[in-house]
Amino acid sequence: MSSLFNQSLVSASQLDQGLLSQIFTLASHYKRKVAEQGVLDILSDKLMASLFFEPSTRTRLSFESAMQRLGGRVIGFSDASTTSLAKGETLEDTIKMVMQYTDLIVMRHPQKGAAQRAVEVSSVPILNAGDGDGEHPTQACLDAYTIFEQKHSLQGLKVAFVGDLKFGRTVHSLCQILNQYNSELFFVSPKTLGMPEWILQKLDSSRYSQTESLEEVISEVDVLYMTRIQKERFKSEDEYKKYKGVYIINRDAITKMKSDSILMHPLPRVDEIDPEVDTDSRAMYFEQAKNGMYVRMALLTMVFGKA
Ligand code: CP
Repeated sequence: MSSLFNQSLVSASQLDQGLLSQIFTLASHYKRKVAEQGVLDILSDKLMASLFFEPSTRTRLSFESAMQRLGGRVIGFSDASTTSLAKGETLEDTIKMVMQYTDLIVMRHPQKGAAQRAVEVSSVPILNAGDGDGEHPTQACLDAYTIFEQKHSLQGLKVAFVGDLKFGRTVHSLCQILNQYNSELFFVSPKTLGMPEWILQKLDSSRYSQTESLEEVISEVDVLYMTRIQKERFKSEDEYKKYKGVYIINRDAITKMKSDSILMHPLPRVDEIDPEVDTDSRAMYFEQAKNGMYVRMALLTMVFGKA
């Protein structure tokens, strides 16, 4: 895809290097413009729907603030139990209604594949804000932008993804982007929470390896990307407890990282990054979250053809 104009974004596989470069340039532009002007007047004729069928802090608020910083308007919900879904309305019918009222739909849903189902019935673009244990492509854009800002290139980096790689939709999306830039990827997880086959099949098999040992890779990588063990995706509390706390970055662990490496996390965190390392200059997770708004401003203007 060489343009996002009027397009839906469901998977990071839709994003080539040209589009990513455009997203990075625009995100940097909006970072400067918001600092200068606060609110811009680019999408004042547009209305965005923000449909969150699953909890969110960063994605929802950064999308909504991005739209409002661009002068656009937002409607939506963050608690699907207040909608007619509670009366049995299907996702498809919900989308067919919302598309009558708005120019674009941002949607988070607990089921993998839900964003694609929405695309199939929608006359307006759908931006996937996370579909179950599927993908989270706009998070991958802001992650890639944060890496680009810090390392000045995505080319050939050594990147370790650590934690719950089975259910972690952010890593499913980001590794597809990094794969385009000849990165060397290390997947660090308990065997039962490894990167799923449907993602591995999309990657260059000579450029990734899998291990259970964080110790093996922590001192070699340029980027250490931690993830949360996702309690809500396990069948039982006992199953979750087997993995809780399996990888933790604290003051001791961070000393093993290279001085010019960066520590990332899509957030929310539980216990996998101790707040005692938040002030370390390598800790980038709050910067990542902040970049989310600028990157989403870039995506919105590209989809609306106003970039
Ligand atoms: N990173 C992320 O998706 O955070 P939220 O679940 O708070 O949106």
